[in-house]
Amino acid sequence: SGKKLWGGRFTGAVDPLMDAFNASIHFDKRMYAADLTGSMAYSKALAKNNIITQEECEQLCSGLAKVMEEWQSGKFEIKEGDEDIHTANERRLGEIVGSVAGKLHTGRSRNDQVATDMRLWLRDEASMILGHLKELISITVARAEKEIDVLIPGYTHLQRAQPIRWSHFLLSYAWLWQADAERLEQLIERLNVLPLGSGALAGHAFNIDREFLCKELGFKGLINNSLYAVSDRDFVAEFLFWASLTMVHISRIAEDLIIYSSSEFGFVKLADAYSTGSSLMPQKKNPDSLELLRGKSGRVFGGMSGFMMSYKGIPSTYNKDLQEDKEPMFDAADTLSGSLQITAGVLSTMNIFPENMRASLSADMLATDLAEYLVRKGVPFRETHHISGSAVKMAEDRSCQLHDLSVEDLKTLHPSFTEDVSKIWSYETSIDNRTAPGGTSRPAVQEQIKKLQNWLAES
Ligand code: ARG
Repeated sequence: SGKKLWGGRFTGAVDPLMDAFNASIHFDKRMYAADLTGSMAYSKALAKNNIITQEECEQLCSGLAKVMEEWQSGKFEIKEGDEDIHTANERRLGEIVGSVAGKLHTGRSRNDQVATDMRLWLRDEASMILGHLKELISITVARAEKEIDVLIPGYTHLQRAQPIRWSHFLLSYAWLWQADAERLEQLIERLNVLPLGSGALAGHAFNIDREFLCKELGFKGLINNSLYAVSDRDFVAEFLFWASLTMVHISRIAEDLIIYSSSEFGFVKLADAYSTGSSLMPQKKNPDSLELLRGKSGRVFGGMSGFMMSYKGIPSTYNKDLQEDKEPMFDAADTLSGSLQITAGVLSTMNIFPENMRASLSADMLATDLAEYLVRKGVPFRETHHISGSAVKMAEDRSCQLHDLSVEDLKTLHPSFTEDVSKIWSYETSIDNRTAPGGTSRPAVQEQIKKLQNWLAES
């Protein structure tokens, strides 16, 4: 059809099914603002190089601003033949400013255009997501500070291991997210380079001022090879991996909290705002928010693996396979944006039950402390580990708790045990013995809180 951007050499009609199959407007319209912003900068660059006149540039820019307004107010009408956002915007621009619209695309291709649009779009979106992530970290740190005196069992293999501060557990996730935030910042830096001015693949025929385009669009530099510029989607792959990994962290805390909210644990209870009921069982209060978070991690990973498969076999340079980059990118951005806010909501509103947490601590969790007691008396650790193990076995055989063993009982295992062994039967003491940085002692946890607060304030 002659109305197509690329219609000149075509005489036969396109199968309408193919038209629909080829179209990306129904999802890439999300990038309308990036597309128009890119075109405004491009018009100015064309004028700067005298490829168009200043007056033509002004006509183009005011027309593009008008198109922007139409999108923003919901008045933009997508017409048949609007294959993608670039086609739609250019078609509408022509209706508004007339034939001068035909000069806008001089030296430009949708190949360098779409690559530019995507970087602009993701740069903004990722910055917004970064804001949600920092908010989540801030909520987690605030909660850790407030509940620093609450103790819970620390687990390995989901078996009781050693007593820890609840705050220490919360902060373990805050640190994962802090690393996620740093990775996202770095990713935004890396994607912030300019493809525009690369033409379809071989470069720009009118020596467009790409440094000027960089400045206009806020890119920190330009991509140095036009073939690379139009075909590179590594920034999408990186973002999808980033999103997948961040969702893994969210999924893992969701799993922890699902377990902790079961009646058998009873450590936490989600606010009504983040729970749902059962249509059949009146007593049910289900942690659906957490289950959705856990479930959505699979969806984001799926988007990444699907895109990687589409991306891997593409010969140089632009190929239409690349149009498959957008939906996973949009979906990951939406899912992350929602998931981070929901996680923050769950964490800031859930109730905790410190008595239940404390009641889950048991004396056997101090078996390491018992061994460490002997270490402090000069017994080699490997030996003390064995002795403490025998004490655990002794208590088990007598169906009593570890701390129920008398000094006399313990003395039969090693002569270095004296009356002062009774001092180790305290969870607080055990916890506050872990003083090295990164540990669960009160000062070490406070140090973590301070570091995260400083990071939040500076970043
Ligand atoms: N809609 C296309 C995409 O998303 C834009 C680029 C089209 N380029 C082309 N040579 N057909 O990739």
